Amino acid sequence: MEQASFSKGLEGVVAATSDICRIDGNAGKLYYRGYSIEDLARHSSFEEVTFLLLNEHLPTESELKEFQERMRRSRALNPEILEMIRNFPSDGKPMELLQAVVSYLSGYVEHKIQHSAFCDCRITLHQVVQLASVVATYHRFRQGKDYVEPDMSLSHGGNFLYMMRGEKPEDYEGRIMDVAFLLHAEHGFNASTFTARVVASTIATCYSSISAAIGALSGPLHGGANEEVLKMLDKIGSVKNVDSWFTKAIENKQKIMGYGHRVYKTKDPRAKIIEEFLQELSEKKNDSRDYDILKKLETKALTVLGTKDDPVYPNVDFFSGSVFKLLGIPPSLFTPIFACGRVAGWLAHILEQRKDNRIYRPKSLYHGPDPRPYVLIEDR
Ligand code: COA
Repeated sequence: MEQASFSKGLEGVVAATSDICRIDGNAGKLYYRGYSIEDLARHSSFEEVTFLLLNEHLPTESELKEFQERMRRSRALNPEILEMIRNFPSDGKPMELLQAVVSYLSGYVEHKIQHSAFCDCRITLHQVVQLASVVATYHRFRQGKDYVEPDMSLSHGGNFLYMMRGEKPEDYEGRIMDVAFLLHAEHGFNASTFTARVVASTIATCYSSISAAIGALSGPLHGGANEEVLKMLDKIGSVKNVDSWFTKAIENKQKIMGYGHRVYKTKDPRAKIIEEFLQELSEKKNDSRDYDILKKLETKALTVLGTKDDPVYPNVDFFSGSVFKLLGIPPSLFTPIFACGRVAGWLAHILEQRKDNRIYRPKSLYHGPDPRPYVLIEDR
C-alpha cells in the first residue's frame, strides 16, 4: 500500500499564497487587503470593498465614482433572465438558479471580445452585481409580484431591499444590508473560494468559476447555518427557556447553531458587528425576542463552551439570521445573500489565481484492491 501522510479536509494544508485576506483566529481579527473589518464596516460600502478586493487598493474619489456608476449600470436584469427566474420551478433551490443565471450571463457580456478566460473581471462586473438583483426578483416572483427596476441612487444593499420590497428601505436598513454584504465578501481559502480558484486554475472563464463556487456554497456545511439558528430560536421560544434548553442540548451533545469555527478561537469579529445591527434593529422594530434569547444563550454558553481547552464562540451566523428576518428577508434567501456578498471575494481570488497560475492537481492515497485479472461476465 502506498505510504504518505495526508490531511483530511486539507486541514492545515497551505495550498497557495494570497494577498487578499488575513484572519487572526486567536485574536479574532479579520482584514481585507490589510484593512480591518471593523474599519471597513464603519466607513466603507460594499461597492468600495469590491473595488478594494479587485484592484488591491482603496479607490480615490473619482475612481470610486466611476466604479460605482459601472456597478449600478449592471443592476438591471434583461428579459431573458427575468423569464428564466419566472420559469424556475417553485420548489427549485435558489442557489441552483443563481448557478444557472451566472452561466447564462456569460453569453450576455457586453464586452464580448474581452470575454475569455483572461477577460478583465473588473470591467465585466455582472456577476457581482446581478446576483443581488436575481435574488430580489426571485423573491418577488415567488410572491406573485412584478419585477422592480433598480434605483441607481441607492447603495448595493439599499437597492437589494428596494428591488425585493418594491419600496425604498429606511436609510438605516439600507446601510445594515450593505454592510452585511461587505462582511460576507471575503474569508480566505474557504470551500467555495477554493473551488473558484481550482476552476480558474484550468483557465476556465470567471463565469464557470463563480457558478462552481455557488455550488460549493450551497451545501449546509458551508452556507446556511444562520437558517438553523432561526429554527433553534423557535425551539427555545423565549428567554426563560434558555437555561433548560442549553443544559439539555449539551447533555445530548447537540451542537449550538451559529457557534464554533475552524479558524476563530474567540468571538468572530463579524459576529460582533452583526450583533450591534441586531440590537439596533430590535429597538427600531420593537421586537427584541431573538436578540434577548441570543444574548442569554451567549452568556450561558460562555460558562460551558468558552471554558473548554478548545473554546467555542459565536460565529458570523449567530446573529445574522435574526437581522435578515427583521429586514423582512425569508430564511430561504439567506444562503443566496451570502453568495451575493462572497462573489466579490471569489472574483478577487480568480484574478489572483490567474496572475501566477498553476493548475491544482493534488494526489490521493490509493487504498483500493491490488491489480487483478478482468473476469468475463459469464464467469462472475
Ligand atoms: N456547539 C457545541 N460544541 C461545539 C460546536 C457547537 N456549535 N462547534 C464545535 N463544538 C465542539 C465540538 O463538540 C468539539 O468538542 P470536543 O473536542 O469536546 O469533541 C470541538 O468543539 C471541535 O468541534 P469540531 O466540530 O471538530 O470543529 P470543526 O472545526 O470541525 O467544525 C464547525 C467547525 C463550524 C463546522 C462547527 O463548529 C459547527 O458545526 N458549528 C455549528 C454550525 C455553524 O454554526 N456553522 C457555521 C460556521 S461559520
